[in-house]
Amino acid sequence: MRALVYRGPHDIGVEDRPDPQPGPDEVLLRITATGICGSDLHGYTGENKRRHPGQVMGHETVGRIVAVGSAAPGEGREPGRLATVNPVIGCGECAPCAAGTEQLCPRRTVIGVDKEISSAFAELMLAPARNVVVLPDDLPEEYGALIEPLAVGYHAARNGRVGSGDAVLVIGGGPIGQAAALAARRLDAERVVVSEPSAARRTLVEKLGFATIDPTAGDLSEQVQAVLGGPATAVLDAVGIGRTVGDGLRSSALGARLVLVGMGARELTLAAFDVSTFERSVIGSFTYPSNDFRETAEWVASRPDGLQHLVDDRVGLDGAPDAFARLASGDLDASKIMVFPSGLEGNGR
Ligand SMILES: NC(=O)c1ccc[n+]([C@@H]2O[C@H](COP(=O)([O-])OP(=O)(O)OC[C@H]3O[C@@H](n4cnc5c(N)ncnc54)[C@H](O)[C@@H]3O)[C@@H](O)[C@H]2O)c1
Ligand SMILES: [Zn+2]
Ligand SMILES: [Zn+2]
Repeated sequence: MRALVYRGPHDIGVEDRPDPQPGPDEVLLRITATGICGSDLHGYTGENKRRHPGQVMGHETVGRIVAVGSAAPGEGREPGRLATVNPVIGCGECAPCAAGTEQLCPRRTVIGVDKEISSAFAELMLAPARNVVVLPDDLPEEYGALIEPLAVGYHAARNGRVGSGDAVLVIGGGPIGQAAALAARRLDAERVVVSEPSAARRTLVEKLGFATIDPTAGDLSEQVQAVLGGPATAVLDAVGIGRTVGDGLRSSALGARLVLVGMGARELTLAAFDVSTFERSVIGSFTYPSNDFRETAEWVASRPDGLQHLVDDRVGLDGAPDAFARLASGDLDASKIMVFPSGLEGNGR
């Protein structure tokens, strides 16, 4: 098979790799589309040390089932079916795994991150059967690759206990901020605003039906109050740097929750009294439990309005190195570029 191999910082290319063979508990998929995630990009530039030369990245994916291991049939996992893959692989033995919270498994691995695991910027990929989620056959296939980032946003909003009474501030209008805003709406929040400095991204977020504010245009807290009619009761920070956490806290009500889903800074300084004396909570969020992934797959399968705006560009495997280079250079407004490892034709759009 052909696969996109990360060779080192700013060096990625198409190479031949042996076709993977499914073990008893595994499913083999022919990959239709895989989204380029910010973390793949940071791996590509070398900023993210969790990617290693020689590995194949890619974890936001969709494909058709080719073969199913002897112990893995069931749940509609038949050759030919369209399916996505939850890339978070738990050990399957610990208490968090038993509870379906594989993101809390101390021995979790993630497809596209750990170099030993078959990953999705390739024509073929293996996945543990329990991580394969079958989709309706008539779904535009690339929508299946949006489920992963949408599930990140959904879990963040659920961790923030977002509901109908909330006034929600989403910080950052990238794919994760977009996903968080869509999730807040899915959880019945009527008042949602997205703070995003890039005009192109604000336009995209507005197409999804959300109000936006430009954090560089003035005091964030004042702008939030003006749009939401009061301070935010929940903040979903999809940037995750000192400035956004600080601004987010100051724009929120007493007792508000701030969910840290953005991972822009490894460490940050925060105004402790803005947390303690206002009884605000800062809540971490990482990927998703398997149920949040499945519920997001069901939601995408229902074809909610807006998904059509989330993919900006599509490339084949041979076009992928250039797409990475252009994204890394920063001279692209693109939000999500999809790689079609098995070719751009016949992707079912
Ligand atoms: N916790 C998780 O499970 C998880 C999963 C995926 C991604 N992430 C993290 O989430 C973050 C967002 O991911 P993404 O793919 O959307 O990234 P992205 O870089 O595409 O988007 C970030 C957006 O934030 C905007 N921004 C920058 N400074 C801002 C500010 N001060 N106020 C408001 N917006 C600002 C940028 O213009 C950009 O549009 C990244 O840090 C990523 O590593 C976390
Ligand atoms: Zn991702
Ligand atoms: Zn486990």
